[in-house]
Amino acid sequence: MTDKKLESILQEDRQFPPSADFVAGTRLNADSLAALHAAADADHEGYWAGLAREELQWDQPFTVTLDDSAAPNYRWFTDGELNVSANCLDVHLATRGDKTAIIFEGEGGDKRRLSYRELTAEVCRFANALKSQGIEAGDRVVIYMPMVPEAVIAMQACARIGAVHSVVFGGFSANSLRDRIRDAGARMVITADGGHRGGQIVELKAATDTALAQGCDTIESVIVLKRSDCGCDMQAGRDTWWADAVAGQSDTCEPTPLNAEHPLFLLYTSGSTGKPKGIQHASAGYLLHATLTSRWIFDLHDDDVFWCTADVGWVTGHTYVAYGPLAVGATIVMYEGAPTYPDGGRFWSICQRHGVTIFYTAPTAIRALMKLGDDIPAQYDLSKLRLLGTVGEPINPEAWIWYHTVIGNKRCPIVDTWWQTETGGIMISPLPGATATKPGSCTRALPGIQADIVDEAGESVTQADQGGYLVVRKPWPAMLRTIWGDNDRYVETYWAQFQNRFYVAGDSAHRDNDGYFWIMGRIDDVLNVSGHRLGTMEVESALVAHEKVAEAAVVGRPHDVKGEALFAYVVLRGDRPTGDAVEPLVKELRAWVGEELGAIAKPDDIRFADNLPKTRSGKIMRRLLRAIASGEEITQDVSTLENPAILEQLRGDD
Ligand code: WTA
Repeated sequence: MTDKKLESILQEDRQFPPSADFVAGTRLNADSLAALHAAADADHEGYWAGLAREELQWDQPFTVTLDDSAAPNYRWFTDGELNVSANCLDVHLATRGDKTAIIFEGEGGDKRRLSYRELTAEVCRFANALKSQGIEAGDRVVIYMPMVPEAVIAMQACARIGAVHSVVFGGFSANSLRDRIRDAGARMVITADGGHRGGQIVELKAATDTALAQGCDTIESVIVLKRSDCGCDMQAGRDTWWADAVAGQSDTCEPTPLNAEHPLFLLYTSGSTGKPKGIQHASAGYLLHATLTSRWIFDLHDDDVFWCTADVGWVTGHTYVAYGPLAVGATIVMYEGAPTYPDGGRFWSICQRHGVTIFYTAPTAIRALMKLGDDIPAQYDLSKLRLLGTVGEPINPEAWIWYHTVIGNKRCPIVDTWWQTETGGIMISPLPGATATKPGSCTRALPGIQADIVDEAGESVTQADQGGYLVVRKPWPAMLRTIWGDNDRYVETYWAQFQNRFYVAGDSAHRDNDGYFWIMGRIDDVLNVSGHRLGTMEVESALVAHEKVAEAAVVGRPHDVKGEALFAYVVLRGDRPTGDAVEPLVKELRAWVGEELGAIAKPDDIRFADNLPKTRSGKIMRRLLRAIASGEEITQDVSTLENPAILEQLRGDD
């Protein structure tokens, strides 16, 4: 996108209007949607203020809607006070205390149900345990857990007392955990002995010990849930079992009224340069958006069973597992393990057995399950499903149609939801009872979200199918507040490019003749591997940290299941390996990256060269590397290449 305009090549004209049945029962039909758009367009702040008053329970009502005095650090509802956990739990006790809040299934098949009343009691007991360990409002608490109810309990308990949680995905390595603990200055880690994934035990406590042994001076205590049989060391004076921590604690805990802008959580995400960014969200604005989108987009009714398959380590698992659906009093499913364990029918078996009505997952999972064939889902009764969703990356029309036909039996609308860790909740998406969908398009922005596409000069792109930068023109309540500890980076990353005039998402997109958005991918050096954002720079740094590596360049190549796969070009300190020497080195480097960053960051391909292709001015020619990695014809002018002979090595022909 730097030197040429993006032309869209994807042509997809099929349209799928919502069925009359769906429209009849929906929470938001075309008329009510149009009314919301009109209200938001007429008075942006008034629209959000009205919803915030209607939807949330305030301890102290707000009088200021939007404070833009420190723009682009926008603040919402600044003189109001509320508690997020009270809005997710206590508000339901009178009307649906006995309703199931969480249906849990472990990978090994163990099951557990928690009603709203039981969940509230568990959250209170754990909140009291946190307090008795000295945790106070504003303290950072790292949660490094498997996908079990206690992960949500821990998050809600933090919210209840105003502690700021930072969930670290259980698939990340000890080193990643260490970096996140340090950056956040966390006082406590909440973890488990181990979690179950793909038939293996992921030893989280052992990884935590490794991280802490490398110096995380701010950590005072560790709470450890017993979840598996793997055993773990417990350090006296620092580590407490979860069961001991909550023993004797009261099952009531008054929610602390907190300022609307009180930080609710940090969540680290990859950027194009440097270390991961601690995206910081605030309380009220985030909760409002989580609530509204859960109700509108997932059309949640009281008898629905909602399954968002995302792990709580990602933002989707925050907004559409731990907060949004609870705020609207829904029943959610949580599953601990891998989608294909013990076989490719696991997801569909869970849908059947728990009567899932609304299912939300990532395109990478859909593609992986599609590959296994139609006869697997055909063995299960999926007739309860009434709405399907996707998130995390563009969904290719083929996978969309499969999802629609084989999983949804052509009955279920599909909501392709575009959003980011930074946006807090869904921004661009069909409303299932109001929007005709097109495979591969996330359709239109929600009311109150002023999404647009602009060119290099910041002018709105009006011509259909002409690509540009995806931006949001006005602040919205759930937007990130800053990057933890680095506000300059916040301004630089999201605002500076167009002089703070609008939020720059970092994605490119185009609009078709109907005004529908089509996301084309990232414009920075961030890859989307299996729906997870990875900075090429982070993987490069990890590779270069290996003693044998002198230089590395990592690019993405298309992958039919993961969306994108990592392709690394490596220059060693010694001679370039050839023949039988290649394989062991590839293995060694992949394992190394797995240890440095986590298994998802292991490159699929590693190719060795004597040096990397650079221009005479010394810039790595990334576009060339991408073309080679994708097996494309090289159309680029390579005459500026310092050493044209290495092209063959890079192609793997030598
Ligand atoms: C991509 C996940 C196309 C996009 C909620 C974005 C999507 C990044 C979609 C954010 C979608 C997310 N269609 N691309 N429906 N949803 N993306 O922070 O590139 O993990 O910038 O948040 O995923 O990833 P993140």
